[in-house]
Amino acid sequence: MANVIVVGAQWGDEGKAKITDLLSKSADYIVRYQGGSNAGHTVVVDGDTYKFHLIPSGILYPGKIAVVGPGTVVDPKVLLEEIEDLKRREIDPSGLKVSTQAHVTMPYHLAIDQAEDSGRGRKKIGTTGRGIGPTYADKSDRIGIRICDLIDPNELKEKLEWLVPRKNIMLERLYSLPPADPKKIFEEYKIFGEKLKPYVVDTSALIFNAIKNKKNILFEGAQGTLLDLDHGTYPYVTSSNPVAGGACVGGGIGPTSIDRIIGVSKAFTTRVGEGPFPTEVFGREADELRAKGTAWAEFGTTTGRPRRVGWLDAVLLRYAVRVNGIDCLAITKLDVLDNLDELNICVAYEDTTTGSKYYDLPLAAGIFKRVKPIFETLPGWKTSTNKCRTRDDLPEKAKNYLDRIQELLGVSIAIVSVGQKRHHTIVIEDPIHGPKRVLQQS
Ligand code: GDP
Ligand code: IMO
Ligand code: MG
Repeated sequence: MANVIVVGAQWGDEGKAKITDLLSKSADYIVRYQGGSNAGHTVVVDGDTYKFHLIPSGILYPGKIAVVGPGTVVDPKVLLEEIEDLKRREIDPSGLKVSTQAHVTMPYHLAIDQAEDSGRGRKKIGTTGRGIGPTYADKSDRIGIRICDLIDPNELKEKLEWLVPRKNIMLERLYSLPPADPKKIFEEYKIFGEKLKPYVVDTSALIFNAIKNKKNILFEGAQGTLLDLDHGTYPYVTSSNPVAGGACVGGGIGPTSIDRIIGVSKAFTTRVGEGPFPTEVFGREADELRAKGTAWAEFGTTTGRPRRVGWLDAVLLRYAVRVNGIDCLAITKLDVLDNLDELNICVAYEDTTTGSKYYDLPLAAGIFKRVKPIFETLPGWKTSTNKCRTRDDLPEKAKNYLDRIQELLGVSIAIVSVGQKRHHTIVIEDPIHGPKRVLQQS
């Protein structure tokens, strides 16, 4: 038995869903513990592409239990659409369990998120517009509507009658938007509650019993370490805790039940939305990289926005190893670098004002936004890696690139992904039962 957390080590979209999908085979329960429909998790199986926003991707395996945990925020409209989509594709959604305690994203949250972010002008965060920040704000303010309220028409009605007039003051006076109608929302959301009720349980108790019965639990992180509300590049973050510690709070289990933490990182870096990104490439360099015919030209799964791209940042990843307690790494999208002549890895930062060097992320000191990367340049391998299935199949220069990442981070690489599909994977060592190999950092 092993309980495992899969956590994004960068700014999201690291390929967590591909790794979760691989590991789900040997899990009994797959649990989302934070975030909402801002997540966009892509899994490619037998040529079919699945894009999940709320449902854990483990639902694709028959017989698995897919849990939407207490720490998540649920837009019932999106969740019901996902359930319908699965049914249309002949995938049985009956293993889905939604926590009574999860908070509900309401239409006024979507309106406020979108109005608030565009109202920030040059200081906008570039949110996904999925109502995430306002839903978590209501949760912290202790005025949120939870799934247990959504499935109880009396509670729902009472809460909406009190809440909506207050939200309307914001909508009308602050954002010049039309007011929301509590009766209309009630009628629509009461039906959502009825439809979701068969899936709603106390998921914390469910997971506790599963652990007692020696089942394997896999926690699927959404977003990534640097988007964490407490440990990310604040204020350019999301409103939840994607870090591994968040799995205990948001899943409703104790830290002693966790056996292994797997960090997922791309072989380079991407970011969607605003905020600092020291290794970002722009202009001619970016155009040249894209012209190599590789998949650097990425687009967000949820919003379709182009992802900002840049070189691998070892300073940022060392920080991710530290704040998550990562035991081993999965490196994805190595194949995307196949055509490059040279590759850069950021090994340290330099403060552009004082010239000081940083080997650890200077987030807390607020210096992060004015640093420039110090790069080490490695030769490219200029061979396709897409067909490699073992470490030995990889070109020597690709092995050197991976070895250098291990050295810089002090953590072993257990999995390397070389394409979108399940079989495009190199398992170097068992990520769950292999030895915890935390190496000496160089
Ligand atoms: P997530 O949010 O972390 O699950 O990642 P996304 O699904 O948003 O984005 C990752 C994208 O990269 C998806 O389109 C995946 O299918 C794709 N992907 C994952 N691993 C690999 C890989 O090794 N190579 C390539 N070329 N694509 C990959
Ligand atoms: P997955 O799970 C990448 C980013 C948004 C924005 C910031 C805040 O697919 O990795 P929010 O809507 O959460 O208030 O937006 O966070 N963001 C993501 N970026 N992948 C995601 O999820 C993201 N979810 C949110 O672009 O910068
Ligand atoms: Mg994504």
